[in-house]
Amino acid sequence: MKELLLVDCCVRGKESRTRKLIDAFLEGLNQKQFHVTTISPEAEGMVPLTGANFARREKLVEEGQLNHPRFCYAQQFAQADAVVFAAPLWELSFPAILKVYIENISVKGITFGCDADGIFGSCRGSRLIFLTTRGERYENSGLEQGSRYLEAMSKFFGFDSYACVAADGLDAKGGDSRIIMADACGRARGLAASLS
Ligand SMILES: Cc1cc2nc3c(=O)[nH]c(=O)nc-3n(C[C@H](O)[C@H](O)[C@H](O)COP(=O)(O)O)c2cc1C
Repeated sequence: MKELLLVDCCVRGKESRTRKLIDAFLEGLNQKQFHVTTISPEAEGMVPLTGANFARREKLVEEGQLNHPRFCYAQQFAQADAVVFAAPLWELSFPAILKVYIENISVKGITFGCDADGIFGSCRGSRLIFLTTRGERYENSGLEQGSRYLEAMSKFFGFDSYACVAADGLDAKGGDSRIIMADACGRARGLAASLS
């Protein structure tokens, strides 16, 4: 059984359209092959690395205390076979809670390492997937930063491949949000079914 970690950053909860992409993805997934663990950084009470919180973290890393309970999220991320981030587009990127999660799981010696040649990813996962919905359309605009950033982070963490399923233009004039969502849900289902 492989482990799939689903990081749910759909701030609007039950109202969230991005959550519908999660549902479609899970429908397509072979549940006999993948065990799914869902985590909500908000519900876990994750906070940004600031002040004493940041200092404590740095000290633990410096002392090599990588099995400290504080690093359980980083260990979980590093050990997953596949990771799915789900978050809407906010301010051309994603809600801050996803960045808070990334700050907390980016731990030298767990999710990445450093040697004479520079930084290398040390996560065992092969696939990193981003499910997102967007108010406007962003194809080839160069404006959207969330997926670009997560693709870079997937390399940073050492994943072999990155894929994004986006429902673009849900709030755009002239678009039919039901058709856009149905198309994106179909792609999310198909992507999940292709995982092995
Ligand atoms: C705080 C906030 C910021 C947003 N920023 C953008 C944006 O920069 N560009 C855009 O196209 N849509 C933006 N939107 C619209 C959302 O991306 C869109 O409605 C999305 O489908 C919401 O996903 P959800 O239903 O999962 O919450 C924003 C919405 C909110 C609430």
